[in-house]
This record gives sequence, structure tokens and C-alpha cells, in this order.
Amino acid sequence: MLKKNTIQKSIKHLLRTIELSGFGDKHQGKVRDIYLFGDYRILITTDRISAFDRVLGYIPYKGQVLNQLSQFWFEKTKDIVANHLVSVPHPNVAVAKNARPYPVEMVVRGYISGVTKTSIWKAYESGERVIYGIKFPHGLSKNQKLERPVITPTTKAEHGAHDERLTREEIISRKLVKPDIYHKMEKAALALFARGSDICKRKGLILVDTKYEFADYNGQLMLIDEIHTPDSSRFWKADTYRERFAKGLEPENFDKEFLRLWYAKKNYRGDGEPPNMSKELQIATSERYIKIYEMITGRKFIAGKYPLVKEIALSIKKYFS
Ligand SMILES: Nc1ncnc2c1ncn2[C@@H]1O[C@H](COP(=O)(O)OP(=O)(O)OP(=O)(O)O)[C@@H](O)[C@H]1O
Ligand SMILES: [Mg+2]
Repeated sequence: MLKKNTIQKSIKHLLRTIELSGFGDKHQGKVRDIYLFGDYRILITTDRISAFDRVLGYIPYKGQVLNQLSQFWFEKTKDIVANHLVSVPHPNVAVAKNARPYPVEMVVRGYISGVTKTSIWKAYESGERVIYGIKFPHGLSKNQKLERPVITPTTKAEHGAHDERLTREEIISRKLVKPDIYHKMEKAALALFARGSDICKRKGLILVDTKYEFADYNGQLMLIDEIHTPDSSRFWKADTYRERFAKGLEPENFDKEFLRLWYAKKNYRGDGEPPNMSKELQIATSERYIKIYEMITGRKFIAGKYPLVKEIALSIKKYFS
């Protein structure tokens, strides 16, 4: 684990964004800066952190943790489905195949939980028993393990919009994805989730739920974006889950819930200008991201040194020269 002091020092050099010259226009997601170059998509994972569907601030080492954790998982799952990763020339950078994304986010859930509008617990709690076209039995409690994982797809919302619930039938009838392809996506998503759960279990973690993005690459189904990171997934500590669940306590988690709580304490729930993150919150969040990386991979987190901008630009130029 990195020393607090090291993390603190990197705060003045946080990777907010990056400008590359000679690689065309920059595209920006909430977390990644993207350059399209030839057949490639260069994804630079920055230190931006989002919650409430917006960027709230910057977390030291977050970009490198996410990028390298995805790299770990892409390697561990490539026998299940092809993925976009070509190379990782720098801890913050992924050179990927540029594919055509399907407009659906494949959310897989092993537990009935969640706080957001699209979570199944919110719907279940308000009395719904058919959610995302799936029938749920009576008598489930919050955070209970589901008999088997379910797929609860959503739209992939445009910038600023919120994801909407979908069902398999809607995806087909609205022609968002062709039936045979969607069937493959379902199979791949469940197999990925099983593999992820398995590996997490051996590391003392529960993979609670996650989101996959798929794309078409010359007729081939391809997993893109990121996989099993703390941005796209929720993790609980396995050893205390049972006891806490039995007592009606919330599981010990590695998700962004503690971040949301910090904002809630400041009376911020996603509308208007967010308050500035404190240094303490930035450091604590950084430690959580690094911790989950180390737990899952079983490797010590080797930090790319701040400031990162020059090194990143150099590594990309070198890779394509
Ligand atoms: N191999 C790929 N081919 C095409 N698109 C991809 C690929 N990998 C990732 N993407 C897209 O690139 C973007 C990654 O940026 P980022 O993760 O920051 O976006 P986001 O905040 O999740 O979503 P948005 O772009 O809507 O803000 C996503 O829109 C993702 O769908
Ligand atoms: Mg994303």
C-alpha cells in the first residue's frame, strides 16, 4: 500500500485531463480522455471521479488503478469473449480496438441491493415484483443473495442524461440489438460475472453487481470499456457479509457509497455545483481504490509517478512510432 504521504504529495499533480498533439481531436467521457487513431481508440483513464452521473473531483492514482485492474480482468476473461485491449503502454493508457458499441449497458446483479433509481432493491421495496421483465419472489430482504444472477439492462444514456431500465423484449422490439447477438451478450455477461465472482471469492470479496459494455468489431462480439473495476462494479467483504446481513446491517463495501454519504452530509445530492472534495476524502478514496486493486490482483500496486502528463504522452508516441 502506498504511504499516505506519497498520496498526499500527488494531489498537486492530479491527472485531470491530457492534451496529445498529432492524434486528432480529443473526446471526453466522464472518466476517460479518448483519441481515435487509425483503427485504434486510445483510452487515457484520468483521475476524475464521477457519482450522481457527474464528475465530482479527482482522486490520486485512480486512473492507473482502474486501467490496470481492467487489464488484469481482460486477461483473466479472454477465453470467454474477445475484448478490445491491445496494449497498455503506460499505467494510465489502454490502446484498444475501436469498435461499434451496442446502445445497451449489460448490468448483472448477484444480490438484490442498490440505492439508485435503476437498482432492483428500490423497485422491489416499492412493491414491484416484475422488474426488468424478471419475476422476483416475495420475502426478499435488502442485500440478499439472489438464487441466480440476473441481467438488468439499461440504455446507454447520452451525456448528462440518466440510464433507463430496459427488458430483453424491449431491446429486441426497439431493435437496439439483434436477437441472436443479444443472446450472445447475455451468455457472455453471465459467464463473465461467474468468472469474476469466482476470482473475487478466492480473494475474500463478493462481486455484488457490475456493468459490461459490448460492441461489434467486424462482426465479432467484443467486450469493451472496462471490466470489474470499482467504477463499474460493487464489491463487498465476504467474511463479514453473512453476519452483518443476519443482523440487518449494511455489508462492508468498497463502493462509492461512502463518497455519496460525505456529499449527503454536506446536503449535496447531485443537483447544482458540488462542494469541493476535502484532501482527507481524496486520500481516503485513493486508499480504497488501491486496496481493492491489491486485494483482487494479489499484487502490490506499483505506482506510476506523478506528474503523469509527460510520461503518458511520451509512451503513446513511442508506442505508435
Ligand atoms: N473499444 C471501444 N470502442 C468504442 N467505444 C468504446 C470502447 N471502449 C470504450 N468505449 C466508449 O468510450 C467511453 C469511455 O469513456 P468513459 O468511461 O469516461 O465514459 P462514461 O463516463 O462511462 O460515459 P460517457 O462517455 O457517456 O460520459 C464510453 O462512452 C465507452 O462506451
Ligand atoms: Mg465508463
